[in-house]
Amino acid sequence: MAPSSPTIPTSKGRVLIVGGTGFIGKFVTEACLSTAHPTYLLIRPGPLMSSKATTIKTFQEKGAIGRVNNKEFMEMILKKYEIDVVISAIGGGDLLDQLTLVEAIKSVNTIKRFLPSEFGHDVDRADPVEPGLTMYKQKRLVRRVIEESGVPYTYICCNSIASWPYYDNCHPSQLPPPLDQLHIYGHGDVKAYFVDGYDIGKFTMKVIDDDRTINKNVHFRPSNNCYSMNELASLWENKIARKIPRVTVSEDDLLAIAAENCIPESIVASFTHDIFINGCQVNFKLDAIHDVEISTLYPGETLRSLEDCYEKFVAMAADKIHKEETEVTAGGGGAKALVEPVPITASC
Ligand SMILES: NC(=O)c1ccc[n+]([C@@H]2O[C@H](COP(=O)([O-])OP(=O)(O)OC[C@H]3O[C@@H](n4cnc5c(N)ncnc54)[C@H](OP(=O)(O)O)[C@@H]3O)[C@@H](O)[C@H]2O)c1
Repeated sequence: MAPSSPTIPTSKGRVLIVGGTGFIGKFVTEACLSTAHPTYLLIRPGPLMSSKATTIKTFQEKGAIGRVNNKEFMEMILKKYEIDVVISAIGGGDLLDQLTLVEAIKSVNTIKRFLPSEFGHDVDRADPVEPGLTMYKQKRLVRRVIEESGVPYTYICCNSIASWPYYDNCHPSQLPPPLDQLHIYGHGDVKAYFVDGYDIGKFTMKVIDDDRTINKNVHFRPSNNCYSMNELASLWENKIARKIPRVTVSEDDLLAIAAENCIPESIVASFTHDIFINGCQVNFKLDAIHDVEISTLYPGETLRSLEDCYEKFVAMAADKIHKEETEVTAGGGGAKALVEPVPITASC
């Protein structure tokens, strides 16, 4: 892709996004484009899926094709576009590619902030079983290398994406909650924070311009979006005005699915266990040295409520809901038949 002129005068720092075609990266990319920050995208070479092609088209000339694990190439890109801020949203399978990126950032010595691919839990505090632990060890290693490098950084700890938290799906916000049965993890009363992708992008962009977030963990703990599984189930049932059978997925069930080591499902199961059994999002207090929280940083800003997000899921599931209602009416039954709870079987 042909580069645009790297000499546009601007008061807002130039941002390079790596992983901008990914699930989280797209939220960050869209948010960055809506600011005055000149936005550049590093696209990994490879087959162009339609979503990737759309992202590239959006960026037209403000992009480069290459990989972050090529130090010379990354140094060239950072210098050529006079990049000030690098945001990485690289996927879980490629986290260690960022080690070379950090070397390049350190070498050019002009980057004012680096946000590595975090966008989840505070990985120094969370304690998932394997195989999620391996991913967290990689994120921890990237943290230590950044801290050692002296490059200013910020870690985005945005907790869960607003969705029904399926135990086997990496990108649950792309699916509406279930209509047949609702899996409740453990006793279902452990709480977690849910943040819409739009807000993950929006607040990531606020953070990069905010000196209070330099070398901090930025936690997303919106009090209006803190729900347990039981509360999420009730929220969904209220939205669609029907009761759905609840099926317990026990701690042992989740551990068994994690132990199957099917990637990525077992990784998601290990995180689900850490969230809804261990309480990894709520079982620690923020400290004044390492942590800041977005509701405290930006008290005038509201986050999209989970109530609103679930409205979107009603629309996504509307056809299915309507079809089932028609079938029930045609069959003459007024009430939904309850299915028997079924045990969870872990299989690849
Ligand atoms: N909080 C949550 O609920 C949540 C949910 C999901 C993910 N996350 C976190 O968000 C982060 C991103 O995950 P994701 O699921 O969004 O990832 P993803 O959808 O798999 O996307 C990964 C992106 O990184 C790019 N990439 C990978 N290796 C690269 C390399 N060497 N050079 C350049 N680009 C490279 C990919 O390019 P291609 O287009 O070529 O593949 C893609 O754009 C991870 O840290 C993950 O743990 C959090």
